[in-house]
Parts: sequence; C-alpha cells; structure tokens
Amino acid sequence: MEKIAIDGGVSLKGEVSISGAKNAALPIMAASILSSGENIISNTPLLRDITTMGNLLTRLGINFQAEDNRIFLRTHGINSIEAPYELVKTMRASVLVLGPLLARMGKARVSLPGGCAIGARGINLHLMGLKKMGADIILSEGYIEAKVKKLRGASVYFDIPTVTGTENLMMAAVLADGETVIENAACEPEVVDLANALISMGADIQGAGTNIIKIKGVNNLRPLDYHIIPDRIEAGTFLAAAGITRGKIKIKGCNSEHMDAVIIKLGKAGLKITKEKDGLIAEGSERLTSIDVKTMPYPGFPTDMQAQFMALMSLSEGTSFITENIFENRFMHVAELRRMGADIKVEGAAATVRGVKSLKGAPVMATDLRASASLIIAGLAAEGTTVVDRVYHLDRGYEKIEEKLKPLGARIRRIK
Ligand code: EPZ
Repeated sequence: MEKIAIDGGVSLKGEVSISGAKNAALPIMAASILSSGENIISNTPLLRDITTMGNLLTRLGINFQAEDNRIFLRTHGINSIEAPYELVKTMRASVLVLGPLLARMGKARVSLPGGCAIGARGINLHLMGLKKMGADIILSEGYIEAKVKKLRGASVYFDIPTVTGTENLMMAAVLADGETVIENAACEPEVVDLANALISMGADIQGAGTNIIKIKGVNNLRPLDYHIIPDRIEAGTFLAAAGITRGKIKIKGCNSEHMDAVIIKLGKAGLKITKEKDGLIAEGSERLTSIDVKTMPYPGFPTDMQAQFMALMSLSEGTSFITENIFENRFMHVAELRRMGADIKVEGAAATVRGVKSLKGAPVMATDLRASASLIIAGLAAEGTTVVDRVYHLDRGYEKIEEKLKPLGARIRRIK
C-alpha cells in the first residue's frame, strides 16, 4: 500500500494552481446520462473518484475518455441500467446515476452504498423524493430497484439539506412531466454548478444556490459542453498548509466567493489572506490563535474542512472547540493527530483542541479523504518525519498533492 513521507518544518512559499472541483465533476458526469450525444466536461481533476465514475458510466454503455483535465462521454447507446456493488462500494457518489437513469430510461438498479467511515450516510431522502415523483422503488438483495413510466413533478421537502440528494432530484426533475419544487435544498456551489450545467443542456431551473429550487421538466436536453468550478476544499487545504507552516502561498484559480466561511475563520485565527483577481494570497507569520468552529451546511463552515482546520488548531495558541454537525463519526483523524503529540479530547460531536507548541513526526494512518489531508498538513509542520499510510484515501480527492506541495518547498515523497 502506498505511503507518503514528509520531513516537516519548512515554511511553504510559492504558487499553487487549484484543480476542478471533484464534487461538481461527479454529478455533472452523471448528468451526461440525460442526453444522447457527445458530452465534453473540462477542468475536471485527475482523481480516483473521477475514474470510478467513468468506469460506472462505461458499465452503463457510455464511452468514457479522460484526457488531461477534460472528459469525453459519448452517451448514444445506454445498454444497462445497473450500478453494481463492486463499483458503488468504492464510491458512494455512484448513487448519483439513480435520478438520471430514471429520467432517461425509466428504470435503474443501483447497489445500496453500504457503510462509510464517517457516518451512516443514508439515502432515504433521495428515495423519498423519487417516490414522490412517481417512482416505484423496492430494496432487494442490497440493491435499489426503481422503475417509472415517466417521472412527474412534485413538491419535495428535505429534512436535511442533502447535497447529493438535491443533485439526484434535480437530475430526475429536468425531464419530468411538470414542475418539481425542492424545499430545504442544499446550497453548495457544487449544486449550483450542476444546475448551471443542466441549464446549459436546456433545462429550466430557478433558485439553485438557495433553499428552494424549482425545476420545470422539458422534453429533451442537448449534450454537455461545460467547464467545472475550482475545488474550494482543495483551496482551503492549501490555506491551512500556509497557516501551519507560517509560509506564504499564492493559491491560483480558486473562487474566493465559495470560501467565505473558511476565509473568515482562518483570518480570525491570524492567517493573513488577501483576495486577488485570480485567487488568494495566504501568509501565516506568527503562531495562530485558537478559535471555535461548528460545521454547517453551506454557506456555513464546510465539514470537508473540519479535519484540516483541526490540524491547524493543534499548533495554535489557546483552546479551540470544534463541533461536527454534519456527520456522526468524522473525528477519526483525532487519534492519529494525538500520535503526533496533539492535545485533543472528543465528547460526542465536540472536540476540544488545546494548542501545543510543537508536533512530532510519526507513522500515522489515513482513514478517509479529508482526514488524510489533515495528516499531511500536520506532517508539514511536525518536527521530524511523518509517514502517512493508506494514501489511496488521499488520491480520491486530491490531484497529485505531493506534486503540488514539492514546488512550495515541502520535503514530501511517495513511497511504495
Ligand atoms: C456530499 O456528500 C459530499 N460528497 C461530501 O464530500 C460532503 O462532506 C457532504 O456532501 C456534506 O457537505 C459529494 O458531493 C460527492 P449529504 P453527501 O447528503 O451528499 C445525512 C468529500 O470529502 N443524510 O449532504 O453524501 C447524511 O448521513 C465528501 O468529498 C441522510 O440522513 O452528504 C449526513 O449526515 C465526503 N439521508 C448528512 O445528511 C439522506 O438521504 C449530510 O449528507 C441523505 C443524507
């Protein structure tokens, strides 16, 4: 299993370019199912999850090609409606083919995603919405078996503003009969990017980015030719890296409008962040100040930055209270950070982080995508060498992170 080794203590300096957003690319790839033709998606990151989604679409009969940071999807002949367990178990976002398959084919057989390290991650709200739109759905042998003659518009209220639930329903609704209203919809920039991609295909969608999204069904959609937004979580991860190493990094190509909560919180902690027209400049001069954070749905502080923020607070001055409100088990990085000397106590959804003067390099293990990023960040500042194991988690969401960190001065290498 591949590992990443880091010799800490270098202040990172230089420029880094941000890749396209994984969590925008995945639903937009699934949206290609909705039209028959040649689809092009540009500014896509070269990540394991993207390849997995490509493999899944290939299984449906779609011709998938990835060339650098562009994806080509030929969707003339869909000859299967099944998303098999062996693919879905490696990536929960596979459930995003459910809505588009029902919209285009009138049926779908999608494996239930199964467990996940960070929480139960149910999809009951996805299924509730699709049933309201007329789909017959049964669960059998670990699979969702769904069919419908033609989806019809409905009013759907989400108890939780589920990101992929909102995305699945939007993709189901764009070809349905009549109007669908999603209330308490997710407002994430990735949801807005999907809506804009669907609109570029000819869909009629109002309100994306707010809690109420209205979709009027149309008869057909033209193929995609769409440019993905930059990854706000990758950009936030590099902000944290600048802060923890007291360096100065120009983060190019990010969209700071998607990052207000992170910029405000890191700014309050003492990271000097300057907005430029083509990105951000982050300058971490002295030791940061401990501040509190609660993860919330967008535009609140993103749960996908919680682990990286905790690594930063491990070395700050004072005590930070971090509350994880989105997932019930997203503190697995705590035990690993403790191995490096961090002083963190967890009680339920709340973690108390007492800043220490220094962290010590150690062998640690990645448990999920963002936990692995927090261990890399901690390793950049720790004294000595940190070896992060199971970096396949990292490769799911970060495009060659060591290749982006090396030019900034990081002493980092991948070891077999
Ligand atoms: C998306 O996951 C992201 N993944 C996650 O990023 C991100 O952490 C999450 O949104 C929250 O922002 C993609 O976009 C591919 P949710 P998603 O549905 O859609 C519960 C990463 O690091 N829930 O908004 O699965 C659920 O259990 C990943 O890139 C239900 O109970 O998240 C969770 O506690 C990790 N029933 C909460 O809602 C449902 O039907 C939020 O989940 C749906 C969700």
